Amino acid sequence: MANTVQQEIAKRRTFAIISHPDAGKTTITEKLLLHGKLIQEAGTVKGRKASKHATSDWMELEKQRGISVTTSVMQFPYNGRIVNLLDTPGHEDFSEDTYRTLTAVDSALMVIDSSKGVEDRTIKLMEVCRLRDTPIVTFMNKLDRDIRDPIELLDEVEDVLKIHCAPVTWPIGMGKSFKGVYHLLDDTIHLYQSGLGHTIQEQRIIQGIDNPEAEAALGGLLDDLKEELELVLGASHEFNMEEFLAGRLTPVFFGTALGNFGVSQMLDKFVEWAPAPLPRATQTREVDASEDKFSGFVFKIQANMDPQHRDRIAFLRVCSGHYVKGMKMHHVRLKRDQQISNAVNFIAGEREHLEVAYAGDIIGLHNHGNLQIGDTFTQGEELKFTGIPNFAPELFRRVRLKDPLKNKALQKGLIQLSEEGATQVFRPLNSNDLILGAVGVLQFDVVAHRLKAEYKVECIYEPVAVATARWVGCDDDKIIEKLKNKAGENLALDGGDNLTYLAPTMVNLNLTKERFPEVEFFETREH
Ligand code: G4P
Repeated sequence: MANTVQQEIAKRRTFAIISHPDAGKTTITEKLLLHGKLIQEAGTVKGRKASKHATSDWMELEKQRGISVTTSVMQFPYNGRIVNLLDTPGHEDFSEDTYRTLTAVDSALMVIDSSKGVEDRTIKLMEVCRLRDTPIVTFMNKLDRDIRDPIELLDEVEDVLKIHCAPVTWPIGMGKSFKGVYHLLDDTIHLYQSGLGHTIQEQRIIQGIDNPEAEAALGGLLDDLKEELELVLGASHEFNMEEFLAGRLTPVFFGTALGNFGVSQMLDKFVEWAPAPLPRATQTREVDASEDKFSGFVFKIQANMDPQHRDRIAFLRVCSGHYVKGMKMHHVRLKRDQQISNAVNFIAGEREHLEVAYAGDIIGLHNHGNLQIGDTFTQGEELKFTGIPNFAPELFRRVRLKDPLKNKALQKGLIQLSEEGATQVFRPLNSNDLILGAVGVLQFDVVAHRLKAEYKVECIYEPVAVATARWVGCDDDKIIEKLKNKAGENLALDGGDNLTYLAPTMVNLNLTKERFPEVEFFETREH
């Protein structure tokens, strides 16, 4: 049995996609599911979303906005591995969940729109990956369009994202004259046929760049390719496993998600190179995925996924060992053992009761108010996983009640919602205001909606002059007192009573930093 568990763990590849909206995350996800045989034909994912909207009303907001607020998990087998793809909310629904999901993966796929290059959301998500040196694979998308010079794209990734690029495939032509890709490691040419994106194509492969067939297939483009390759090989890096695993080098693939081309070349190498479940840090020791005993942490809590049960589901990343239905888990924070027989999985968004799960997998636990982001579960050991941060919010609103008598319910609701990570709450030291912070604007709507539905409180938001928040750290109480005297109007306590600086402007933040060099102003705070 132990052997099987080890084998199962070694097969896991748990990752998320990082990209700017519209770069093609949804499209490539669908193609990955096609390759993983979770769907038979592309186009069905959107169909499923549409029918889900028609039949389910678990969250009115989702229906009203026509978007998904969930972070679902998709699992499929590929080339002898088990792939767990964690979806990260993308557009307006960008939230702290997006960031925190990245703390639950072992690698990431970065999708770039090759006509645009590196865009700002990607930069932010990459910063989060950096916190754990997550290995990154890059897919340059939309080669069927007129794209920017591929060499320039690599330069931009290197300059802006500060990661070395190792091209693994190289495009032959682009836009209307996109002919395919050359595989630098295999010395093969893969020819593209347009209009076959909804299926897995039989690709024509030519072995060897000097093969006469290549000339026949590519004509003048072959010379261009050879010239370009000389330049590329001189200017870029070779793939190196150690550098990749350290997050310092990214293998780069070119293709079109829409045309389902270049995706399989990427996926083949992805499952081969991406790390199996990595060791995880706790406050006391590092936990290896292959340890016999089960452990895991909660990285996300989602409310009301199922209208039949008005419950919350906590998403738990299994970090070591395995889960079997009915096992006893130790809830470290509450110092309590509980038998878990109704964990769920989220295969392709469908909730099913789970029999078994291994390190690397994500399982869902029913939360009746006793689970928080960052909670650790073990088989008895007092461990606490670290590295599940709060991120300094960038958007702020003051909350006002429509009915002032509901203040208690409002406080309770906001504290619970902040424990779940739906928003962050700040209480200024010098006033009775309640200020909400978020990284995505939709978080405010979700909070207002849930306060009304779950706590029967209606609230209104008002603009507030806060540009950014920083958690304050300083061992010297005298200096903190001085800060309180000088800048008390900008200080607040967060949901966990941590001292926070709410800066009205970035200029103000920088000035305060200069005036108080002994004080640290943190952009992230650990749960
Ligand atoms: P996102 O999840 O990252 O936001 O991006 P999504 O996959 O929704 O793709 C954004 C748009 O880019 C979509 O077009 C999609 O069809 C298109 N797209 C994705 N990959 C490729 C590609 O390889 N080539 C080309 N030419 N287009 C691509 P849309 O018009 O916004 O939506 P739709 O009506 O086509 O669904």
